[in-house]
Amino acid sequence: MNSKPIVAGNWKMHKTVQDGVSFVGEIKNRVLDKAKAKVIFCPPFTALFSIVETLKGTDFGVGAQNVHFEAQGAFTGEISIEMLKSTGLDYVILGHSERRHVFGESDTFINRKIHAVLNSGLVPIFCIGETLDDRKAGRTIVVLEGQITLGLDGLDSIDHNRMIIAYEPVWAIGTGETASVEQVVEAHASVKDILSGMFEENANEVPILYGGSVNENNAAELIETKGVDGFLIGGASLKEDSFCSIIEIVSKFYKG
Ligand code: PGA
Repeated sequence: MNSKPIVAGNWKMHKTVQDGVSFVGEIKNRVLDKAKAKVIFCPPFTALFSIVETLKGTDFGVGAQNVHFEAQGAFTGEISIEMLKSTGLDYVILGHSERRHVFGESDTFINRKIHAVLNSGLVPIFCIGETLDDRKAGRTIVVLEGQITLGLDGLDSIDHNRMIIAYEPVWAIGTGETASVEQVVEAHASVKDILSGMFEENANEVPILYGGSVNENNAAELIETKGVDGFLIGGASLKEDSFCSIIEIVSKFYKG
């Protein structure tokens, strides 16, 4: 594992501005070992500015859940990178399974976002993962390979400080079912191999998060799993006690 585990909370379409600000305000006061895990909140667009303000001067990170690659224009309902940057955030989730499967985002569309986000200096949290059908058909690694090679196509290099990958099996997201330790080990090792095949330097150091029904009961086993550098968490990131417990568990694995 990289020295500092990452715990990113993907709120999806939950919490108003007021709910979000009070939530991060509480967590800010509760998490004592702030230096032992990188905690990133990814609220809806509407709450980004206020949450960045609330967390100013702390080590907590803030990320968006999506962005458009065009700088501006007639894209009703979309948000540009400059708009995100003007809130003061640092991260953007890209290629989340719900963007791929509910909103039909393709690997090439995600690739354009990856390039635009990297050019802007923001850090992508690039999500990949197989469906249940893929896994049953023995296609997991092939699917991951396709998502990574197409998603990162055209990049000359990869910087482990400016890229986070999240392996999230689609069948484990929001289902209460997590991938087994063996499945996570295999998937994370494959991601590393694919990255090493594409990029000469730094590929091994790129943090790879696991996501999919992570909670306070399975976090210890999962964070101990080889190749896991942290978590991307949906449901359990919305509950103060659960999220704080996960941060506490993950912080124990800090190798300072
Ligand atoms: P979950 O969601 O933790 O609720 O399974 C994870 C995600 O979608 O990032």
